[in-house]
Amino acid sequence: MNDKTVIVTGASHGSGRAIAEAFLEASYTVVGLSRRRPEWGAEYSARFIPFSCDVSVEAEVERTFAAAEEAVGAPIRVLVNNAGISSASPIQTDTLAHWNQEFAVNATGVFLCTRHVVRRLVECGLPGRIINISSIAGRSAFPNLSAYSASKAAVIGFTRSLAVELGRHDITVNAICPGSVETEMFRDVLKRLAAESGKTLETITREQTSVIPLCRFQQPEDVAALALFLASDGARNISGEAINLDGGVVRC
Ligand SMILES: NC(=O)c1ccc[n+]([C@@H]2O[C@H](COP(=O)([O-])OP(=O)(O)OC[C@H]3O[C@@H](n4cnc5c(N)ncnc54)[C@H](O)[C@@H]3O)[C@@H](O)[C@H]2O)c1
Repeated sequence: MNDKTVIVTGASHGSGRAIAEAFLEASYTVVGLSRRRPEWGAEYSARFIPFSCDVSVEAEVERTFAAAEEAVGAPIRVLVNNAGISSASPIQTDTLAHWNQEFAVNATGVFLCTRHVVRRLVECGLPGRIINISSIAGRSAFPNLSAYSASKAAVIGFTRSLAVELGRHDITVNAICPGSVETEMFRDVLKRLAAESGKTLETITREQTSVIPLCRFQQPEDVAALALFLASDGARNISGEAINLDGGVVRC
């Protein structure tokens, strides 16, 4: 049975793409989910299986994960719940639709994907790894991001609770809490902060870097390296953790 199998959600770009690449480098068969079908180099075609799937839609998740297992030929052992969205809104003008959308992708999507993978692992008596990409916004405080922060805090609570529930099945559940990862999502944040403050993008970038003890933003490859470690044998006794990956900004 092929046990080096992983599903990465939101694999088309940003951290998800780096995570998919890291697992491919480590000889995994990788199922990459995204709303858009990612384009990959021919070198990966044999072990990379792309599906388009909106993780917030229950029927789509059920159908896609079943098809992924069929394509791989075995239950998927590792799930990286990476897909996420983030947009800012002051509470006075925030809408229910915006709140619901952030939760639908960031929290409900994690629930739906995890439920499918765990069901299959437990049915087949197989160990597994669930790795959830949360955020330091889920445990710290940033203005105008209340919906995003709440949805990412939900992921941390979900992670801790499931870690206790699934320990006896030898399924570990951990979260990664990135800080400022240089992806499309983070570049949008910098642009918004520049527009809100009237400062240049360069000034905002300098200011944001200066509050990071390690004086640099994180890269998608940093998130990928930690996800790969959490899937490895070396991490078999780590479960229920929410690990900051932020250059030392948040210390709790
Ligand atoms: N970039 C950062 O600074 C930062 C910081 C903390 C946490 N994060 C988290 O890291 C994860 C990856 O973000 P990123 O920075 O690579 O952002 P990104 O915008 O570059 O990528 C997000 C990915 O999620 C996918 N996605 C969005 N909605 C989806 C849906 N409904 N169904 C399936 N896929 C969907 C997108 O297609 C994309 O592949 C997210 O969960 C994000 O919240 C990012």
